[in-house]
Amino acid sequence: MRSVQNQGNGAIKKKMNGYVGFSNFPNQEHRRSIKRGFNFTLMVVGESGLGKSTLINTLFESKVYPTKDTDASEVPAVRSGVEITSVSADIQENGVRLRLSVVDTPGFGDSINNDEAWRPILENIESRFDAYLAQENRVNRSKIVDNRVNAVLYFIRPSGHGLRAIDIEFMKHLHTRVNLIPVIARSDTLAGREVETFKARIMADINYHGIQIFKPVSDQFDDPETVADNKAIASKVPFAVVGSEKLVERADGTKVRGRRYPWGVIEVENEAHNDFVSLRQMLLRTHMEELRDATDVGLYEAYRTQKLLALGHVQDNAVFREFNPRQQLEEEERLHGAKMGKLEAEMAAVFRQKVQEKEGKLKQSEEELHSRHQQMKAVLEKQRMELEDKRARVGNSQPPNTSMDAAAAAVLAHAGEPVQRM
Ligand code: GTP
Repeated sequence: MRSVQNQGNGAIKKKMNGYVGFSNFPNQEHRRSIKRGFNFTLMVVGESGLGKSTLINTLFESKVYPTKDTDASEVPAVRSGVEITSVSADIQENGVRLRLSVVDTPGFGDSINNDEAWRPILENIESRFDAYLAQENRVNRSKIVDNRVNAVLYFIRPSGHGLRAIDIEFMKHLHTRVNLIPVIARSDTLAGREVETFKARIMADINYHGIQIFKPVSDQFDDPETVADNKAIASKVPFAVVGSEKLVERADGTKVRGRRYPWGVIEVENEAHNDFVSLRQMLLRTHMEELRDATDVGLYEAYRTQKLLALGHVQDNAVFREFNPRQQLEEEERLHGAKMGKLEAEMAAVFRQKVQEKEGKLKQSEEELHSRHQQMKAVLEKQRMELEDKRARVGNSQPPNTSMDAAAAAVLAHAGEPVQRM
């Protein structure tokens, strides 16, 4: 064994000189997967008559879904709401078992008012998450049934004008809950150039509204072939598809799955005619596991976290203090001491305020008494002066009047002032 390089995360990249055996792990996984089989739940959404059932049956090359051979130009019947129906099929290919569930949403877009058409579909997808969550929380988790929707094939009407309000509303409400795969339905009804313009308009709308759709990514892979394949598939989104359960005869006499027109044949599996092959490649051959993984690790995990947080659970990394009775008692004593101290300080402040109020009142009444005394003194002084004046005037004309002296003395005595005799 020789050390090659440090990975920067503490791990050292090493190359083995001999065969140890763990490189056989993918084969072990492979055997285990074959034994167990796979589950895949695919939902199809789109107005009636857009070719949903036909495309599903074309994809799986079996009559998974019943189709009606209605006239394509027929106006769909007006319905009162969206229903959710589901069919399951066990499909085997080269010994590998796939349990496929197709969830249909008849009535979507077929009502007079389609404002809330997305709601029952979102509720159905979330109720499947809820059912999975309930099973995960059971004591015995050995038999979890996984009915979570792994992908939605969203059928866009081939109008050529861009997305309609119903398409935008649906994708905006659903893109955080499911892997969205938009497809242009019955693309053979559009001319080749029209398809490209229509695709560009759809992608512009999707980007403008911040809608996330499922696309193969290239930057995770070292293998140039995989990178090129993924880029090629991603460049086809939204897939312009043609479905047909019938075989038609080409000019050279060979029979192919396709649709016959007076001017020729549209072949389902011809990449020059439509994107059916790329869609099938991504959905069934290269990215089925990635779709299942994205459902489990990305979409479901985000839903689960939101749900548990809403129910009042705290994050796993929240820090909890261990319970310590002694510490608890000390903490309680500290809080009690602080409370008593605060109470004492408040009482002292109230007492000081009351004393100040009392002192203020006393001072005020003292000042009032003083000013009243001064007034009285001034009045008496005035009376005394008047009497003095009178006496002086009487003294000049007759002998001094003793009764007048007595009256003046009485008034001054009442005022509490020492009487000054002349
Ligand atoms: P509902 O079951 O009513 O929801 O319809 P649906 O969307 O499942 O459509 P269905 O597959 O039943 O097809 C309706 C009609 O369209 C049938 O006549 C099909 O043959 C036809 N059709 C299906 N796919 C295509 C297509 O790619 N191109 C054209 N031109 N016609 C198609």
